Order: sequence, then C-alpha cells, then structure tokens
Amino acid sequence: MANESVPISISGLAKTYGSFAALKDVSLAVGAGEFLSVLGPSGSGKTTMLMMLAGFVGADRGSIRFGGREVTSLAPHKRDIGMVFQNYALFPHMTVGENVGFSLRYRRISGETASGRIADALKMVHLSGFEGRSINQLSGGQRQRVALARAIVFNPAILLMDEPLSALDKKLREEMQIELRQLQQRLGITTIYVTHDQREALSMSDRIAVMNHGAIEQIGTPSEIYDNPKSLFIAQFMGESQCLRIRTVEGDALLGDRTLRTRGGPLKFGPSEHAFLVVRPEKLVVLKPGESPDEMNVLEGRIASSLFQGESIVLNTELDTGDTVTLRIASNQLARCSLPRPGDRVRLGLHSHDTIILPD
Ligand SMILES: Nc1ncnc2c1ncn2[C@@H]1O[C@H](COP(=O)(O)OP(=O)(O)OP(=O)(O)O)[C@@H](O)[C@H]1O
Ligand SMILES: [Mg+2]
Repeated sequence: MANESVPISISGLAKTYGSFAALKDVSLAVGAGEFLSVLGPSGSGKTTMLMMLAGFVGADRGSIRFGGREVTSLAPHKRDIGMVFQNYALFPHMTVGENVGFSLRYRRISGETASGRIADALKMVHLSGFEGRSINQLSGGQRQRVALARAIVFNPAILLMDEPLSALDKKLREEMQIELRQLQQRLGITTIYVTHDQREALSMSDRIAVMNHGAIEQIGTPSEIYDNPKSLFIAQFMGESQCLRIRTVEGDALLGDRTLRTRGGPLKFGPSEHAFLVVRPEKLVVLKPGESPDEMNVLEGRIASSLFQGESIVLNTELDTGDTVTLRIASNQLARCSLPRPGDRVRLGLHSHDTIILPD
C-alpha cells in the first residue's frame, strides 16, 4: 500500500528469534490522526512489533511504510517517530531538560530553539519549570510525563507508546488516560499504543488490534471488538465472558433442548464441531414471571448466590442445563423488583442481538 495518505502501513512483517516466531506476517494500516491500541497477552509480540516500527529491531520479512515512504531499514532517528518505551528508558544521570532535549540533539536542534521546544513540551505534559530536576527526584507519574515530553518534543508524525501507564496507580492512570488522549487529539498525531489493560484500550482508542501468538487476531473499533468478537480467544480476552457449550443441529444452536435465537442467520458449523454460547454478565436480565419477550432467549435456573457490590448486584445462577452463569445488574434496576435469593427460581433473558455463538 504505497499510499502517502496512510501514515503507517505494515505488510507481511515477520520476526523470528531462533526457531520462535515472535511476529508472524503482520499487516496493518493506521490512518492519519488515528489512535490504535494494541492489546494482547504477555509474549504475544506487542513490544516486538513496536520496536520494529521504531527501528530498534530489524525485520526478517515484510515492509514498513510511513506516509508512503519505505522505512523498513532506516535508522530509528530518521523515521520521524516519537517513542515511549515500556520502562520509560529515561537517562538517570541527566536532568529532565536534558532527557527531553536528547531527541533534539540527534536532529541538530540546539540553543534557544531547543530550550523553547523543551519548555513547550514540558508545558504540554504539565511539568513547566522542571527542566533542572534530576530524574530520581520525580514521582512515577512525573517520569511518565518526561518520557512523553521526550517523545513529542520534535513534533514527530507518529507516536509509539509501549504500556506507558502500566506503572501508575489506578487513579493517576485514569487521569493520564484522559490527558494523553486529549493531547494526542490536539496534536493530531497518529498513535500506536500498546497496553495490557483492556478497559484502557476500550476507552481511549479509535480502533483496537488484539494480538495472539505473534499475529493480529482481530482489529476493529472498541465496540466491534467487544460486541462482535470473532473468536473465543477475543471474547474471553476482552471483558468478562462465560462460554457455555451448545449443540448445533442443522444450522440451529441448542442450549439444552432449546433453540437459541441468534443475531445472524443459520450457523455454519459441521455436526462434530464444538460451539459455544458466549454470555457477558451485563447482557443478562431477570425476567418477570410469565414475561417472554419475542427477541429474547430465556434461560431458566436457580439462584446459587447473590453478591451486593454497591452499584451492581452479581447473581450466580445454576441453569437447568447444568451450566452456571453469572449476571450483573445495576442496583437501581433491581429496585423495581425484589432481589432474588439463593434457591429462588429465575428466568433470565438474553437478547438475540447479544447471543454470540462461536466455534471452539
Ligand atoms: N531479543 C529476544 N530474543 C529472544 N526472544 C525474544 C526477544 N525479544 C522478545 N522475545 C520473545 O518474543 C516474544 C514476544 O515478546 P514481546 O516482548 O514482543 O511480547 P509482549 O507482547 O510485548 O509482552 P508483554 O506484554 O509481556 O510486554 C516473547 O516470547 C519473548 O520472549
Ligand atoms: Mg511488551
């Protein structure tokens, strides 16, 4: 894809360490100003892919183009990318100002121009006046900001970030997520953002790529990935999901002896293939006695336990089929009806739109 309007275009990228394939034929295009998160289990190849984009790890095969320009074998500092590393990689013996200015020196920017840029970058990350501080006089959150300032100080076209917020506590991480996203949008900088945290990916991204065993297993908008997982791996990796084994008979999906209404047409499974119903806890509702809405699948069973969690209530239910499912209901929803108790019979509704059937 030699298209100049595509800031990042990767095709057939592969990397092997000894006999281990860390990255297998990855192809990907990222649009101008897009925020793409890369998510995946530990060891799935996220850092490897980012380091290859940045030029710190060479490719065995495939090509990388930035804005239509082939950069596959170009040195890192010639690629016009800013990078925030997984462990920040700040220089401990340098001041904040020297750390941020480091990438300018490579680009032969010095003197007042450099000091002006450094001050601007530090202002963007709310660290104005920190130039003279040494790195070990900073908190974790401040170090993270210095790493970000260093990555954007030379106005790169592309920003790569490898788990930049993973070392921060929950509250600071959530504040930084909002700040980072606002800064990214203000600068209009095309961004690839690696994270372990699926919530972070869901809330920050234009699109998410989920990696597994060195390959991209699914790529799409946060809601596509969450609501329309293409595989059991994606369904289980993104959010809580419970997988109930079902039978498939002539294109129908059966849980126990009931045919499930699904959102698609007939299922395309062979008779010996295993298939699963994927149920997210928040998609189940408690039906009133006698209630049987047309678009709902009804699952019957008995409450095993209920757990009050403040804003929500979690009900563990043993279905008549022998499966167990957990549902989560907003507390204010239950105010209307009474809280089911352990031992009570319940009928649960699952909308056909939310009825996801996936092969093993
Ligand atoms: N220099 C190397 N030599 C040998 N194997 C490597 C090297 N770098 C990475 N690997 C292996 O490649 C695989 C992918 O590593 P990578 O760092 O890309 O994973 P990751 O998805 O970033 O994981 P994490 O979420 O833990 O950071 C791992 O199995 C790792 O052990
Ligand atoms: Mg990594």
